Amino acid sequence: MHQDIEKVLIDEGIIQKRLDVLAGKVVEDFEGKPMVVVALLKGAVLFTADLLRRVALPMQIEFLNVASYHGGTESSGVVSFLDETLPDVEGKVVLLLDDILDTGRTLEAVMKKLEQQGACEVKTCVLLAKDIEREVVKEADYTGFMIGDEFVVGYGLDYQGLYRNLPYVGVLKDSAV
Ligand code: XMP
Repeated sequence: MHQDIEKVLIDEGIIQKRLDVLAGKVVEDFEGKPMVVVALLKGAVLFTADLLRRVALPMQIEFLNVASYHGGTESSGVVSFLDETLPDVEGKVVLLLDDILDTGRTLEAVMKKLEQQGACEVKTCVLLAKDIEREVVKEADYTGFMIGDEFVVGYGLDYQGLYRNLPYVGVLKDSAV
């Protein structure tokens, strides 16, 4: 285990097994539809790669660079779109992938944007969802794991740019924050 990690919340084997289940549901729901995956950078990169290699459907894969945390451990509430151009989703069914559903503001802002761009349907899929009351995006269409209201890192999630490459999800030691 990494020296800065206090405890592992979800280990690698459990994540990978859960992805088999999520991928199965995605295949069932998207089969035969014109599918575009939109994955949010940078947090969803590991999740996206591991999930999509299990989804044997024709698909276009796009990444969108959005920022909502700005390096700290509290959501700023402001979602910024950092790309100059947005993916072409006109008339397509979108699977929107993110690492974690926290306040829901990120997914809400991105869903709105994709609908404005002409997507005919947007389904949301997150590795993690915090078990808190949300005013927007109460839940994702596909959720890997529900977790408590604590700041987590690993498997794509970072603290100040670090820890994304850990193959598990864990909680940082106080001394690392
Ligand atoms: P909202 O609040 O918009 O947040 O649902 C979603 C985005 O905030 C980041 N986030 C986290 N990042 N550990 C992280 O490393 C966390 O516990 C955490 N909670 C939210 C993440 O980028 C997500 O896309």
